[in-house]
Amino acid sequence: NQKIIIAIDGYSSSGKSTLAKAISKKLKYKYIDSGAMYRSVALFAIRKNIFDSDFWNIRNFIPLLKEINLKFKWNQKYNRTDIFLNEENIQSKIRSEQVESKVSFISQFPEIREKLTLIQRHLGEEKGIVVDGRDVGNYVFPKSELKIFMKGSIEIRSYRRYQDLKNRGKEVSYEEVKKNIIHRDIMDTSRNISPLKKSIDSIEIDNTFLSIEKQLNIIFQLIKKNN
Ligand code: C5P
Repeated sequence: NQKIIIAIDGYSSSGKSTLAKAISKKLKYKYIDSGAMYRSVALFAIRKNIFDSDFWNIRNFIPLLKEINLKFKWNQKYNRTDIFLNEENIQSKIRSEQVESKVSFISQFPEIREKLTLIQRHLGEEKGIVVDGRDVGNYVFPKSELKIFMKGSIEIRSYRRYQDLKNRGKEVSYEEVKKNIIHRDIMDTSRNISPLKKSIDSIEIDNTFLSIEKQLNIIFQLIKKNN
């Protein structure tokens, strides 16, 4: 079987990563979480206190971008891929509300998108990858063999995210989570550079009422058809 690139784009908390991870496990493909990369840059920016000034200016941040070195490494203990920022495992630090409130802002800047796009394309050179994000099928890998666009009702997405955070011991309210998701939807679909947008050659999956097994079935049927 020929190795392919599978691009999964869609709204925040629409289940992209759950599906991407399940596919990567079945096909023994590498999983690339592009959102984790944007989150890492946001964490880096927060640590550099760049949001503390009232006169925050992207131009002050650009020179610091070269200090960022991102890597994905397999975590044997937890059976997952972790992201490393300058050799520090930040996998559990990029899911915080603080990062979440800044990441879509950070993601608008072309210099940042260019840097992360280059890394993603490099990781995709040998194919055999599943990548999830917002601009993967449209921009990062426009020639990917399978493009999926994920959506789900705002309520179900907020509820899943809320449960997810609660399970990890975070104190949040459902309303707060919903507000953040709505905010990110607006930012991600309305930004000037590679906004989240369904491409004509992508297959839409609305998983408001679809189990992960059903979603996987759809994917494997599509792969079979393509082969
Ligand atoms: O997918 P996740 O929710 O982790 O992504 C976090 C944020 O990173 C998104 O809300 C979006 O602003 C940004 N992002 C992006 N392009 C991608 C992946 C994520 O702009 N390919």
